[in-house]
Amino acid sequence: MKKHVAANVSWVGKVDWELSKFHGDEYSTHKGSTYNSYVIEEEKTVLIDTVWAPYAQEFVDNLEAEGLLAKLDAVIAQHAETDHSGALPELLRRRPDLPVYCTANGIKSLKGHYHQDWDFHPVKTGDEFMLGNGKKLVFVEAPMLHWPDSMFSYMTGDAILFSNDAFGQHLATERLFNDRVDQDVLWTECLKYYANILTPFSSLVKSKIDQVLALNLPVAMIATSHGVIWRDNPTQIVLKYLEWCQEYKEDRVTILCDSMWNGTRALADELARGISDASPGTTVMVHCLSKFDKNDALADVFRSKAILLGSPTVNKGILTAVAAIIEEMKGLRFRGKKAAAFGTYGWSGESVSVLSAALDACGFERVDDGLKALWNPDADSLKAAYDYGKAFAGKI
Ligand code: FEO
Repeated sequence: MKKHVAANVSWVGKVDWELSKFHGDEYSTHKGSTYNSYVIEEEKTVLIDTVWAPYAQEFVDNLEAEGLLAKLDAVIAQHAETDHSGALPELLRRRPDLPVYCTANGIKSLKGHYHQDWDFHPVKTGDEFMLGNGKKLVFVEAPMLHWPDSMFSYMTGDAILFSNDAFGQHLATERLFNDRVDQDVLWTECLKYYANILTPFSSLVKSKIDQVLALNLPVAMIATSHGVIWRDNPTQIVLKYLEWCQEYKEDRVTILCDSMWNGTRALADELARGISDASPGTTVMVHCLSKFDKNDALADVFRSKAILLGSPTVNKGILTAVAAIIEEMKGLRFRGKKAAAFGTYGWSGESVSVLSAALDACGFERVDDGLKALWNPDADSLKAAYDYGKAFAGKI
């Protein structure tokens, strides 16, 4: 139901406590999420974004119960992905006269999703929607942040930037504002969200933030479409994005692997020990990919200055959990990170060369040809892995 945000702006979204996977099965949401929709009640009454389709009926019923449905003058669809546009069909079934403001790409996407010819009004950067009472919405296209249709809307007077997906995080909370939630959880989810969704668009993040900062607009709040509204020092998340979009790395190494009979896993443990002994300040994380969450692993890759990728050889190739994360890393296009491969083998032994080629294709800076161990690693092989870890620490 309606929650007060500022002046005549309210939140009318949905807190989804049950969401455990997002983007189909691609993104784990350990903390649920929210679909933030906002209503502005000035001389004009405007809805900004809606909610995911399963909650469409409830969402529009709530608008009606709050006396808003009949009052709306327009809906701003900042992004066509269905977690934000999913209630448009129900909304427009009950208010077919309602104009829909979105980018030209938004029209294409919305028509592609819903096959409806709604009363679309395309907007471009700098276009305005007059709200009355001396206030207006100014639109800013944000193509590929993270879809071609994405846009922001800036509300003058109250100085609120409605940023849609940008600056969001998957965090279910009734607390609405950034200063009212656990800060460790908040920042963990913000980083995971950036790492898993926005990394490929980092150069665009930089140029869009530079463009918006150059406007020198006051920003009292950043009202995202997922998670909290940034009202306490709202630009802290913008500054964090500026860090994250420029080949971000910490003094951290992530070891990603999977194992059939724990041989490759034993190498991973020795590699971690070697790195730690050679460089005690470096945080080393080991992710066994078939057992733990891949999105958490990718968040660790994002934070790392280097990775080690391991698999035994299976049928002249690699294990499927390792192949899956390679596919993700290829798409995410991490930059400025070093890497090498490792793995055990019994006879043909292709995995390390397969992994090395994959690391090259993903854009990692591979430091050498990696580490191989025959059969289950014996004491000499484990010592070689430990020494390799120590040497690796010196190369990154
Ligand atoms: Fe939250 Fe791109 O949808």
